[in-house]
Amino acid sequence: MKTNRTKLAPATRRLVAEVYGRLDYGALGPIYCYEGGDEFWRVKRGLCHRLGNRVAVLLRKKLPRRGRSLYVGAGVAELPALIMETMERDRAVEPYNLRRTEVVTLNRACRSVPVTFRAVDAGRAKGLFDHLWMVSVLNDPERFPHLSPLSYGRSNPLTLDPVKFNRERRIVRALVACCMGKLAKPGLVTTTTEEVLWIAEWCHRHRVPYLVGKRYYPTAIVGDPICFIQIGKE
Ligand SMILES: C[S@@+](CC[C@H](N)C(=O)[O-])C[C@H]1O[C@@H](n2cnc3c(N)ncnc32)[C@H](O)[C@@H]1O
Repeated sequence: MKTNRTKLAPATRRLVAEVYGRLDYGALGPIYCYEGGDEFWRVKRGLCHRLGNRVAVLLRKKLPRRGRSLYVGAGVAELPALIMETMERDRAVEPYNLRRTEVVTLNRACRSVPVTFRAVDAGRAKGLFDHLWMVSVLNDPERFPHLSPLSYGRSNPLTLDPVKFNRERRIVRALVACCMGKLAKPGLVTTTTEEVLWIAEWCHRHRVPYLVGKRYYPTAIVGDPICFIQIGKE
């Protein structure tokens, strides 16, 4: 198939639009924000679609055909990348997300594409993957309220609880170790600028070479910029 270097293939774009069109934004509202879910999705829906397509085009150039991708904490924003991988690179994708209601909603919308979200810990994924996607997971303020402010440089030394922070740091390190252990080398990690340090730390500890891409790309929901890291390439 001839590919346009700057756009997804027409069939992929159609499927992405179809899935976004089928999403139940009413059900997603309370999952993504505490109040004003309708307004949130009026602003974010088009942005997710547009920025998601842009990242999917970039990813297409970086991923070999017929590999496997592990998506940790994937949601609405990841749909274009997931659909592109299956449609244009003939790859298998495994998206994990701990929010059960969101997973049900996403799977309903994805019935015409070979993408199935799983509502279990991504650490339970089986086998090796050549691409790990982990975007705005390790700095999630909901899951890591004591660690997240430090990741964003907004911590308050007067209120920091070192015991709780340490407990969350152990969970983050364990998740990174578990997922990086499933990454074939050489492999690719897609993550955010705030999460790079956890991946880099793992690489240093395991003496695995890594190269962080110099370019950053905006994301729609959390807003943390995405970058790509080549892992294990000599
Ligand atoms: C802040 S949201 C980010 C969602 C999405 N990546 C984005 O950028 O819009 C973090 C997500 O990570 C998921 N998550 C956290 N730890 C996880 C784990 N161990 N396995 C699977 N999902 C996880 C949460 O359930 C949540 O859906």
